[in-house]
Amino acid sequence: MPVRRNDHQIQFPDTPLLRTMSVTRFGVSVEKVVATIEMPSIHHGIDRPLRKNDLKLLPALRDTTIPTVSEKRKKAAIMAQSNVDSCIAGGSREDEQWKVINSFELRTFEVCIRHSFCLIMESSSPNKTRRNMDRRLFIKTGALAGVGASVAGNMESSAAPNTTKAPFIRRGVDDRSVNLGFIGVGLRGRSHVGRILKRNDCNVVAICDIDADAIAATQKTIQKAGASDAAVYTGDEFAFEKLLERDDIDGVIIATPWLWHTRMSVATMKAGKYAGVEVSASNTIEECWDLVNTYEETGSPCMILENVCYRRDVMAILNMVRREMFGELLHMECGYQHDLRAVKFNNGSQPYGGGVEFGENAYSEAKWRTDHSVYRNGDLYPTHGIGPIGVYANINRGNRFLSLTSTASKARGLHKYIVDQAGEDHPNASVRFKLGDVITTVIETQMGESIIVSHDTNSPRPYSLGFRVQGTEGLWMDLNKSIYLQGKSPEHQWEDAEEYLKQYDHPLWKKYGETAQGAGHGGMDFFVDHAFVESIKRGVDTPLDAYDAAAWSAITPLSERSISEGSAPQPFPDFTRGRWMTRKPVFALDDEF
Ligand SMILES: NC(=O)c1ccc[n+]([C@@H]2O[C@H](COP(=O)([O-])OP(=O)(O)OC[C@H]3O[C@@H](n4cnc5c(N)ncnc54)[C@H](O)[C@@H]3O)[C@@H](O)[C@H]2O)c1
Repeated sequence: MPVRRNDHQIQFPDTPLLRTMSVTRFGVSVEKVVATIEMPSIHHGIDRPLRKNDLKLLPALRDTTIPTVSEKRKKAAIMAQSNVDSCIAGGSREDEQWKVINSFELRTFEVCIRHSFCLIMESSSPNKTRRNMDRRLFIKTGALAGVGASVAGNMESSAAPNTTKAPFIRRGVDDRSVNLGFIGVGLRGRSHVGRILKRNDCNVVAICDIDADAIAATQKTIQKAGASDAAVYTGDEFAFEKLLERDDIDGVIIATPWLWHTRMSVATMKAGKYAGVEVSASNTIEECWDLVNTYEETGSPCMILENVCYRRDVMAILNMVRREMFGELLHMECGYQHDLRAVKFNNGSQPYGGGVEFGENAYSEAKWRTDHSVYRNGDLYPTHGIGPIGVYANINRGNRFLSLTSTASKARGLHKYIVDQAGEDHPNASVRFKLGDVITTVIETQMGESIIVSHDTNSPRPYSLGFRVQGTEGLWMDLNKSIYLQGKSPEHQWEDAEEYLKQYDHPLWKKYGETAQGAGHGGMDFFVDHAFVESIKRGVDTPLDAYDAAAWSAITPLSERSISEGSAPQPFPDFTRGRWMTRKPVFALDDEF
């Protein structure tokens, strides 16, 4: 049967040609499905570095029926952890897990129908699908103890690398302490150190920074907590490589300026350690591929430390999205709308305001972040917004970003701020900032949703990430906590979302809400560190991974390119190389991490 592609897909000449014979409402009629990947090593990515292992990956894709040793270990480890409460607040764990899997698979195949563009990869071979169906039946009848955990284990089985090669991590053992290293202990890095020191299952083994003051302040924090001094790596910008040579470190938290993130994450993975990288993870499409390729080659997980995914209201809404309370998702909005003028400029001795210096004369982020506003015009910081939306929309796990367009407003705010604060004659008043004050990006997903992402950091305004989640049954907006659900809310009237947020509070927050009190950003920072540490303890992939890091961070270079080409559409590379069809949601499925 010839493959028909819609107008959008026709733009992508490299898209693998795929065909299927029969797709039924409940997934795939396995006996009838024939699938081929005619151009296996080619995808419609751009700027993609040549990758010698493409062909080698194919057998791994095809042969997921046989779990690898590491997958068996992962499953066993997760099953051992399985005695937990219902994974979705208020529901039976088994029913809800079943629903998640079922609706996931349904949607995966619905998209194939909708786009007449079906990839049933050979990994969905009849045997595999039948096994899954049998397993679902098994789950439904409750025959398997610790079923939720086994589901989680299975959800991982389609991840790319077959081994998690992290030599110092004892897989499946969760009662050990985790040794962490920190690269970049400025304001954000030190806040990670502070939270990790509060845990009784972690040691701060080594820290690295090029700034002596940052090192001294961190050691002070460590001493105050009564822990032993950490080994120090400093002196030059590549001192982190020495830290990575240590054989007693399980994971590394990277909180350096953006241009170092990918390089340090790649080096960390190559050293066989878990990488936890601050946002955004990458600056170019090539760097996005570097993260993914290194993850696939080394098997060392890379977690993008996107804390907003763990915000309490965001997680309650996730709970509601998974229960399909908004119906089928149609449209989402998000953004980084934060007046950063006093962050981009300061007086060189304090992090916020007091002057209009940036670059070498400034302190903390103004030292390096402001330069991006001078030289780049695009969404420079997309992940706080797109992270949660990516999770709602199952990006890389049943869905993917297809393309975006971006438009920039004129650039006025930063120059005006300098002039207002320091006058026309200040040397920085002559700097021309390239970054438009408001960048608006519209993303189209494979499942047919639209997503608006805003970047708005140069003008006076209260902070807001501007979330909106809209489906066929209603919508939520975080601004003013408004919700409308057909059949529940009074007709044509907004309701206060508070009661819903309480009722659907995520199990993770129910369990750890008190512990998280006082952790940064309303408590959500606790959860992102917790997820990183718990993944290391269990020797499993992190719930936000290299594919998420790549897809979310790619918005920056793609938006730059779109703006420079007059808001032209830019296709997203498929960083999963088609695995988005078979990868399943893993983020916060229960109350563990
Ligand atoms: N998730 C969040 O909510 C959140 C909040 C703030 C910052 N961040 C992110 O955290 C990162 C760090 O931000 P920050 O506010 O701490 O900035 P910062 O400037 O205060 O800290 C960066 C540190 O990195 C050090 N550094 C620079 N180059 C280095 C190198 N080659 N080797 C070792 N150390 C090096 C600097 O000396 C500095 O101490 C950024 O990516 C930022 O976007 C995230």
